[in-house]
Amino acid sequence: MPLVHIDSEHPDPEIISRAAGLLRGGRLVAFPTETVYGLGANALDPAAVARIYAAKGRPKYNPLIVHVADVALVSLVATGWNETAERLAREFWPGPLTLVLPKTDAVPDSVTAGLRSVAVRVPAHPIARALLSAAEIPVAAPSANRSTQLSPTTGDHVLQSLGDAVDLILDAGPTPVGIESTVVDLTAPVPTLLRPGSISVEDLMRVIGRVDRLTNDLSGASPRRAPGMLEKHYAPRAKVVLVPAPDVGVRVEHERANGLHVGALVVHAAVERSHTIVVMPADPPSYAAALYASLHALDDAGCDIVVVETLPETGPWLAVRDRLSRATH
Ligand code: TXA
Ligand code: MG
Repeated sequence: MPLVHIDSEHPDPEIISRAAGLLRGGRLVAFPTETVYGLGANALDPAAVARIYAAKGRPKYNPLIVHVADVALVSLVATGWNETAERLAREFWPGPLTLVLPKTDAVPDSVTAGLRSVAVRVPAHPIARALLSAAEIPVAAPSANRSTQLSPTTGDHVLQSLGDAVDLILDAGPTPVGIESTVVDLTAPVPTLLRPGSISVEDLMRVIGRVDRLTNDLSGASPRRAPGMLEKHYAPRAKVVLVPAPDVGVRVEHERANGLHVGALVVHAAVERSHTIVVMPADPPSYAAALYASLHALDDAGCDIVVVETLPETGPWLAVRDRLSRATH
């Protein structure tokens, strides 16, 4: 079994050095970031990058995010660093923000799915930072799950999804943010949000003024600007339905009467309790942190359907609503 436990506060240098050696040798290492676990490979080695696509069963048109240890290393993979990038990096890095910039020639086409831009971020998780510093290479890392499945927020999730397709899994427990990074395209005339995350549009606007948003409607998103965002994504095995709070109880009873094994994610809705009725936190960051773990748990409990109470249509809930709406497709 490729999984080893590692302590975030005191990472064992021998484990970090083994993991860094594997990455430099073209192998795959899954590691925690503050958002979700990533499936890492040397971003400058096309054979290593090909292993990521093979292990995930990921379509070749879906580009990867490149992780670097420090903002000074961005120039290895991206050009076009400007005032906007500088401000965002100063405010949010290390952290759950990904910037799309013109790519350098060093980045293989497979990393960017043939695009001339590259997505890059400096993660904040101490294990990710230790690994990137030790490896001394840019590391391409999509979420460490089979394509279209739920993203992993624990080492066990990675093991369940990818198993022996990974050479090493660094397990440091649950990831604190719990949903994938905010992605902002800086190659557009106006910075454009491609994927909402825990860093909100409001947070971004506070730092750089104007931010455009691709429409939240999946069918309306431009495939060229946001590759990989059109497919079914972040979905558990169970069917997911979104239901307004007052109707959740009735819907749960109705599905049970149909003979289905029913789970639910509720905040305020009144439902008769059972071990598959999960009461979620009422604030967006805590809800996001619990979201994938709860859906994984309901899958493991054998639920056929998960009834999810709809969430407020406000800015702070945008990222969570985005992931839930993808899960229903
Ligand atoms: O939080 C995260 O970002 C996690 C952790 C591991 O860092 N990674 C992650 O990677 O979510 P992934 O592969 O699941 O999502 C990458 C997404 C792509 O689907 C695409 O939407 C966007 O990032 N992306 C990557 N390169 C891009 C590019 N050149 N232009 C536009 N979007 C790009
Ligand atoms: Mg993913």
